[in-house]
Amino acid sequence: MKESKLKKVKVSAPGKLMLFGEHAVVYGYPCIATAVDQRIYVELAKLRESLMIVNSESEELDNYAKDLTELGKGEVPKGARFVEMAVKNYISKYPIKGGVELNITADFSSQFGFGSSSAVTVAVVYGLARLSGKKLSNKEFFDICFKTVLDIQGKGSGYDIATAIWGKTVYFVGGGKKIRYVPVSKLPMEICYTGRKADTVTLIDKVGKLKNSQKELVNDIFVSIGKLVDKACQALIKNDWTRLAELMQINEGYLEALGVGTKQISNLISVSYENKALAAKISGAGGGDCIIILNTGKKLPKEVYLKQKGVIIDVKTNAEGVRIES
Ligand code: MEV
Repeated sequence: MKESKLKKVKVSAPGKLMLFGEHAVVYGYPCIATAVDQRIYVELAKLRESLMIVNSESEELDNYAKDLTELGKGEVPKGARFVEMAVKNYISKYPIKGGVELNITADFSSQFGFGSSSAVTVAVVYGLARLSGKKLSNKEFFDICFKTVLDIQGKGSGYDIATAIWGKTVYFVGGGKKIRYVPVSKLPMEICYTGRKADTVTLIDKVGKLKNSQKELVNDIFVSIGKLVDKACQALIKNDWTRLAELMQINEGYLEALGVGTKQISNLISVSYENKALAAKISGAGGGDCIIILNTGKKLPKEVYLKQKGVIIDVKTNAEGVRIES
């Protein structure tokens, strides 16, 4: 393979927020997600030796080093799992000469549920391709990254990977069967963090268990979620906030029915309505992480959320996908 002359490259990939369709998307239905302007940065430098070296202050990795032939084997620190698997999957498809050093920094905490694992996976694979002068189509790129996520956590729809690659706001069908932009001009949403990190795999399993015992009912819910995602797409394109609010309310009802709500989330959603938000719902797996609040009027006072231990986070949506920084 032709090696590029680049010796170093810095890339970044955005975090994401799910707007509609969570959980159903794991079973092949559509969802809508948006990229946020909080990013993970990876600086990659070529090494002569066949080594991977990783540094990440937030993940407490200080010169974590492994021979390329040993990747994925033995003990892997939690904070290095996605990076190591991403490097392994990339080089097993597109071998590189020598090795690579990766220095990772983040704009956001992995607590928020903004998808730091998928963002770092995307940034690592993009950086490796760039460093070795390899042009990957978005789909080839998606497949390596999605495989990495499945290798580590065993399940997931891949929407977080697609959003980190494509950026902006995307309509995504489970597994990447369809990925396209939703041309939104505005997203008048506020984001409130519950202060509690949710474990996505545990919540996917919880819904899976309900699906096994209530197959027909849960399938009907998924079909309805799929339909509301399609309607939400139209509402978003037309800036039809009244319609979008109705669809958020219905989607939240289904998520509650799937058992991924919490008392605190219900309180935060009630507070949103009491303060004249148009609608509010879980964003992502549920059980904690963030809720999104549709609000076209004045910003709601942060204190009302703080009383329920919720923190309004200042993030912009519809952000740029993976990109070269330098
Ligand atoms: C988690 O952010 C959203 C889920 O639908 C899982 C996934 O799509 O991978 C629950």
